[in-house]
Amino acid sequence: MKVALKMKMLTLLGLFLACSTIGMNRASAQTVWLDQLDLSNATQGSGMPMKNKTVDRRVLTIAGKTYERGFGTHSVSSLLILLEGKATSFTAQVGIDDEVIGRNPAAEFVVMGDNKKLWSSGVMRSNDTARTCSVSLVGVKKLELLVNDGGNGNYYDHVDWVNAKFETTGETSLKTYNPISSDKYILTPPAAATPRINTAKVFGVRPGSPFQFLVATTGDRPMKFTAKGLPKGLKIDSKTGVITGKIAKAGTYIVSLGAKNAKGKAEKTLRIVCGDQIALTPPMGWNSWNCFANEVSADKVKRAADAMVKSGLINHGWTYINIDDFWENHRDSKDETLRGKLRDEAGYIIPNSRFVDMKPLADYVHNLGLKIGLYSSPGPWTCGGCAGSYGYEKQDAESYAKWGFDYLKYDWCSYGNVINGLKDNDPYKVSSLSYNGGGELNTAMKPFKVMGELLRSQPRDIVFSVCQYGMSDVWKWGGSVNGNCWRTTNDINDTWVSVKNIALDQEKSAPYAKPGNWNDPDMLVVGTVGWGNPHPSRLKPDEQYLHISLWSLFSAPLLIGCDMEKLDEFTLNLLTNDEVIEINQDPLGKEATCVHTIGDLRIYVKELEDGSKAVGFCNFGIELVNMSYNEFAKLGITGQNTVRDLWRQKDIKSMDTANDQLDIEVPAHGVLLYKFIPKK
Ligand code: GAL
Repeated sequence: MKVALKMKMLTLLGLFLACSTIGMNRASAQTVWLDQLDLSNATQGSGMPMKNKTVDRRVLTIAGKTYERGFGTHSVSSLLILLEGKATSFTAQVGIDDEVIGRNPAAEFVVMGDNKKLWSSGVMRSNDTARTCSVSLVGVKKLELLVNDGGNGNYYDHVDWVNAKFETTGETSLKTYNPISSDKYILTPPAAATPRINTAKVFGVRPGSPFQFLVATTGDRPMKFTAKGLPKGLKIDSKTGVITGKIAKAGTYIVSLGAKNAKGKAEKTLRIVCGDQIALTPPMGWNSWNCFANEVSADKVKRAADAMVKSGLINHGWTYINIDDFWENHRDSKDETLRGKLRDEAGYIIPNSRFVDMKPLADYVHNLGLKIGLYSSPGPWTCGGCAGSYGYEKQDAESYAKWGFDYLKYDWCSYGNVINGLKDNDPYKVSSLSYNGGGELNTAMKPFKVMGELLRSQPRDIVFSVCQYGMSDVWKWGGSVNGNCWRTTNDINDTWVSVKNIALDQEKSAPYAKPGNWNDPDMLVVGTVGWGNPHPSRLKPDEQYLHISLWSLFSAPLLIGCDMEKLDEFTLNLLTNDEVIEINQDPLGKEATCVHTIGDLRIYVKELEDGSKAVGFCNFGIELVNMSYNEFAKLGITGQNTVRDLWRQKDIKSMDTANDQLDIEVPAHGVLLYKFIPKK
């Protein structure tokens, strides 16, 4: 009886357990929608990752069909999801969103599981019906939803993962993650109270041109400045350190600069080269575009100039305050402040009502010890649809000089329409980008040659910045049209994808960089940026260190693109490291190239005037690189060297590069920037 009862109870228990397991199984077949996860961990080529909307915040639509749920993003896009084997399958439909029809987007959707390709959509274009993705995820630990560009650059690649969902084994806690650290750490030591002269070692000017050069110096004020050996026609203001005047005779003049305050003194030799070439080191300054875009005004420009002084950046060599597009009148804007007569009867350009009078603005900036720059296009319209210089090049060059401008960015924009003889109905780059110089090199060069010569004939030095996004191998001929720098790529934005792709694209133009002729990988994207929609740079802190280090190694023009009134401590730390800036401003003017690659670690080397070498250990991967390095011969480094960490401004080792090893630890998307100084 007792035994029978026990048996019965066991049977009941068994039944109960069986039922609850079935119950559990039923609960376990749970669906987790992609849009229920934190999508903000995605990295993408432009805009923000969007839940149930497109990247432009519209209803998700592929080939005319709308979808309620999904992930709207922009190629190149990557979303990492930690599955730990909890998901059994992933299904979705993918495609290019209709919001970019007519813009020639192309992209490829890829699903990666534990670094293996599980599925690919093939290249998709606009109007392609959504393709279905269905993959088994049994055993997969890490999943990556990737969208690559379709082979024609990632312009306008607005892409959607719709109806995207996982089936799970009962665990619903799937998590997205971003492997790059968000830790903001400061490396640049604060400037000392004693004077340090940070100005470039060489400066170029043309005979007879107005001369303005600030001896950029950190240290407590008041400071007394001296300059021994100045050529005839120049004088220094001992209080401000600004050297002004004119040099009549071409020649090289060696000047001994001095700066003294209550705490001590500093000296530095400056080589003034009076001749044909200007911009003997890459221009450094600020440009309004990445921050204010079409909302720039004279007031904002003045405030940026004031902030350049107040923040102390001026003491580190930052010089130009450059106005980008939208100082001119617009052809059809609804914004009244941009409307007005484009030119006077003689064809001279009339600035819009936000600027009114350019000469006092230039004077204001010059009086702060800074310089000022402007923007135009060789086409009839600028990229933003304002008045361009086409047909009025002479008047424009004269205006810039008369107003006192020191820099001109000349941006291709609608010139493509001029060449193609198109009716001028699209001010944007669509037609110009489809034009690639090819056999028509003279056509590609022509507008820059015209403006370059006109600028040369003005009675002041105007740095000429050629902007046509690297078409027709501009680095081969930019110097011959009097260009001082030329953009090598399309526009940058504050994403890792953008900075990485631009960085990887610099090798072919690198050999052409030299004093007076610089490759320009576009402006800096640190601080508060946003093209009229301000936000802190979306680059992670290590990515920002890498960005500034690479642009220094590249001898790139350094143009800050952020709101100068919102500089935080981290951004200032990036922009005030004099040893890093010195790499950029080195008088030899060489551009670094990548000379050794180990997996995702790319090692860049830049030769410096004093025989030492700047070396960037750049980690483009998502894992920490931790290794002992000893292949210095590959970097062209031999013998006994002192190794200096430039961000930390510290000697870290004295080593025999033939036999010793260097331990390096490079954060994911981060950098070590070292200088190898040979022992004499
Ligand atoms: C782009 C240029 C940008 C900015 C903009 C102004 O073509 O690359 O840097 O100048 O035009 O409209």
